[in-house]
Amino acid sequence: MDQFLYKNGELYCEGVKASQIAEQFGTPTYVYSKKTILDHYHQIAGAFAPVNPTICFSIKSCGNLHICRLLAEAGCGFDVTSGGELFRALEAGGDPAKIIYAGVGKTDEEIRYAIETGIAAFNIESEEEAENIDRIAGEMGKKAVGALRVNPDVDPHTHKFTTTGKKETKFGVDIERAEQFFARYRGLKNLHVAGIHIHIGSPVYEIDPYVQAVKKVTALIDRLMLQGHRIEWLDLGGGYAVNYQHPEQALPVTEHARALLPLLKGKPYRIALEPGRYIVGNAGILLTRVLYRKMGGAKKFVIVDAGMNDLIRPALYDSFHYIWPAVPDPANVPTERNKDRLPANGEVVDIVGPICESGDFLARERPLPMVKRGDLLSVFTAGAYGFAMSSNYNNRRRAAEVLVDGENVKLIRRRETYEDLVAAERV
Ligand SMILES: Cc1ncc(COP(=O)(O)O)c(C=O)c1O
Repeated sequence: MDQFLYKNGELYCEGVKASQIAEQFGTPTYVYSKKTILDHYHQIAGAFAPVNPTICFSIKSCGNLHICRLLAEAGCGFDVTSGGELFRALEAGGDPAKIIYAGVGKTDEEIRYAIETGIAAFNIESEEEAENIDRIAGEMGKKAVGALRVNPDVDPHTHKFTTTGKKETKFGVDIERAEQFFARYRGLKNLHVAGIHIHIGSPVYEIDPYVQAVKKVTALIDRLMLQGHRIEWLDLGGGYAVNYQHPEQALPVTEHARALLPLLKGKPYRIALEPGRYIVGNAGILLTRVLYRKMGGAKKFVIVDAGMNDLIRPALYDSFHYIWPAVPDPANVPTERNKDRLPANGEVVDIVGPICESGDFLARERPLPMVKRGDLLSVFTAGAYGFAMSSNYNNRRRAAEVLVDGENVKLIRRRETYEDLVAAERV
C-alpha cells in the first residue's frame, strides 16, 4: 500500500494535492512519499526480523540524499555499486560498517576509496578482482573484507537485461567454481573472504527462484564450512517486485520471508538483504503535463513534457507504468490502479515525450480518459530506477524531486538549469 490516492476526485500524495505540487514546482517532477518509503523499509525489517538482517538499501534505485538520509536514520545500510554511490551513501550519513560494495568492474581508485572509508565488505565478482583487492589493500597496509558473489544459475523469469543470476550473465562466479575460489584465496594476506552474496535479478515476481538460489548457496556454505572456511554472512541481494500493473501483481515481502526463513533460521552466519525497488518503487510518481495531441496515421499521440531522459524504463525494458490524469473527470476517478480498468469515454493513445527518438514513449496503445493540453498526468510506481536512470539527453534539464511528509512538501532536488548543462565543460 502506498500514499498516492485519489481523494475528493483528485490525486494526493499523503496530505498534498498532486495538482498543487505541479503548480508550485512545475513539471516534470518526481514526487516521493516519506511515509511509504519508511513503511516499506519497516515491512522488510519486520518480515525478516527472526533472522535480524542487515538491510542495505540498493542506492542505485533512488539515490536522492534526502531519501537516503531518511533510511540511514531508520538504521538502514547501503548497497553501492560505484565510487559515486559510495560517496552518496556517506554524504547521506550512511554508516560505513553497513555499506557493501558490489559490481563487476570496480576500478583501483574505487577500491582504494572503499578501503579508506572502512566499508563492511566488497561483494567480489571474479578471481581477478579478489587478487586486485588483496594487492591494493596490501599497498595501503590495510585488511579488506569480502563476500564472494556466487552466480547460482537460477532463472528469476524477468527481463533479460535485469536477469543477473543465470550462468550466461556477467555477474558473480559460477557456483561450481566457488569452492575452488575459497581454496585458492584462503591464504590471501590482505583480503578475508568471509561471506557469500547472490542477487538473482529484478523485479522478481516469484518466490521459487529465491528458494532455489538460497537452497543452493546454503548447501554451498555447509560444504565450505566442512572444508574449514569461516563464513560469517550470507547476502541475499534484492529484486522483490512491486505492483506496476495492478494491486495484486507483486507478493508482499512477508510471503518471501515465509518461504525463506525456514531455510535461514538458526544458521551460524548473519543475513544481509539489498532491497531497492521494494522500498522506493511505489513511493514515487512522476508528474508530467500534456503539451500537445496529434494523429500519426490512425494512431493518436499524447505528447507530454516528460521523456525517456526522465523515465527510461518503458523504452529500455518495455516496462509498464500505470498512467492516469491527476485530476480526472468524475467518471474516471480510479478506486485502484489496475491496467485493465478501461476509462469511461476514453481512447487508446501512445503517451510520448519530446525527445527525438521513436523509442521515446511512456506508454503505448494505452486506454486513457480523453486528455487535453495542460492536463496533468501521473506516472505511477516511478520511485525506483526513475530519476536514478534519468539523463540530460537532448540537453534536457533533469526533473525536480520533492518529498511529501503529511501536509508538507519539500524540494529535495531543484530542477536543473541551462547553466548546469554546460557547467562541467567550462574548463
Ligand atoms: C547487486 C544488487 N543488489 C540489489 C539490487 C536491487 O534490486 P531491487 O531494486 O530490484 O531490489 C540490484 C539491482 O540491480 C543489484 O544489482
